[in-house]
Amino acid sequence: MGVMDERHDIRDRADCERLVRAFYGKALEDPIIGFIFTDVAKLDLEAHVPRITSFWQTVLLGEKTYNGGAFGPHAHLHERVELKRGHFDRWLQLWFGTVDELFAGETADLAKVHALRVASAFHTRLQSFPSPADPVPLPGAAGIVVTRHGAGD
Ligand code: HEM
Ligand code: HEM
Repeated sequence: MGVMDERHDIRDRADCERLVRAFYGKALEDPIIGFIFTDVAKLDLEAHVPRITSFWQTVLLGEKTYNGGAFGPHAHLHERVELKRGHFDRWLQLWFGTVDELFAGETADLAKVHALRVASAFHTRLQSFPSPADPVPLPGAAGIVVTRHGAGD
């Protein structure tokens, strides 16, 4: 915002990669969602960065380097740790903060807007996918379910 503001807009794949790396720098160390990447998914960051970079290059620059299917891995993740509203809120908070730190402009705004859309869509869609918070069927007792208390939080 003032004359000292040296932020430019997101212009190319290198900008997308810079954004993605800066985001994961925060996300992996985050007290709320960090464990999902490090302990649950055991994310291989160097393998992951090019795919996520392609996702954003496709969304933001219209350069179709990502071939889709972003929801699937999250449904799989949700089977192991319930992805709650609070996790998505935190994800978005870190994403918005990273975008604003590094970039400014219409495409930077789109990076925030589209993340919000995807996060909302993912969260809604996950409600119909299994998670560890679901009732566990009792073996041998068809139709009877036992709710797990204290698990999954
Ligand atoms: C130039 C415009 C746009 C581009 C290039 C774009 C690109 C993409 C891409 C590549 C994905 C990931 C798809 C996948 O992994 O299967 C995606 C997902 C999504 N986009 Fe966009 N998008 C655009 C505009 C919009 C607009 C205008 C909206 C809503 C008003 C929107 C809402 C969404 C939502 C909700 C998802 C997540 C869908 C899901 O649940 O899997 N996008 N977009
Ligand atoms: C609670 C929030 C989220 C968590 C904990 C999370 C975590 C993860 C993890 C662990 C992976 C790697 C999965 C694997 O390869 O095994 C992944 C993949 C991915 N995530 Fe997320 N994510 C979250 C939200 C989002 C949102 C909001 C977006 C988009 C705006 C997004 C975009 C992606 C994309 C594009 C991939 C790569 C999918 C592929 O391999 O094609 N994530 N996420």
